[in-house]
Amino acid sequence: GSIWDEYSNQVIKRMDEPTHQGEITEEMAKEAGGKLIVADFGAESCGDAVRLYWVVNETTDVIVNSKFKSFGCGTAIASSDVMAELCIGKTVDEAIKITNIDVEKALRDHPDVPAVPPQKMHCSVMAYDVIKKAASTYKGVDMESLESEIIVC
Ligand code: FES
Ligand code: FES
Repeated sequence: GSIWDEYSNQVIKRMDEPTHQGEITEEMAKEAGGKLIVADFGAESCGDAVRLYWVVNETTDVIVNSKFKSFGCGTAIASSDVMAELCIGKTVDEAIKITNIDVEKALRDHPDVPAVPPQKMHCSVMAYDVIKKAASTYKGVDMESLESEIIVC
């Protein structure tokens, strides 16, 4: 088969037409009645980077909206897109528990078939790291102090 067979349809669709790509401004956050959180993270191994936006309701800690910008490969774009989607509606504490494996699983077409080839698994780690960064910014704590279940590249 072709190399394209190693990617799920979801990955291919989301790298072409990500639904949560974009920017959230202070004004948009205010209108949505929440606090704007912007977090940047770069992967040391490939130099790619992602920016995550959250609007958090400060009374309930619920993430009411989320978007991203990516300077990464197609898998990073697809991972970031599904990550933003998974964040919406969760509290910040619930969002911290989203791992890169959850992101990859959410991108699968079939539960038993990986969404990306093994050598692209590391690209989903960035999505996980930037969530931790956003959460640490919101909570005003160190990223390292947040519980982590990272599955490394
Ligand atoms: Fe850098 Fe995929 S190769 S994020
Ligand atoms: Fe790109 Fe690990 S090398 S995220």
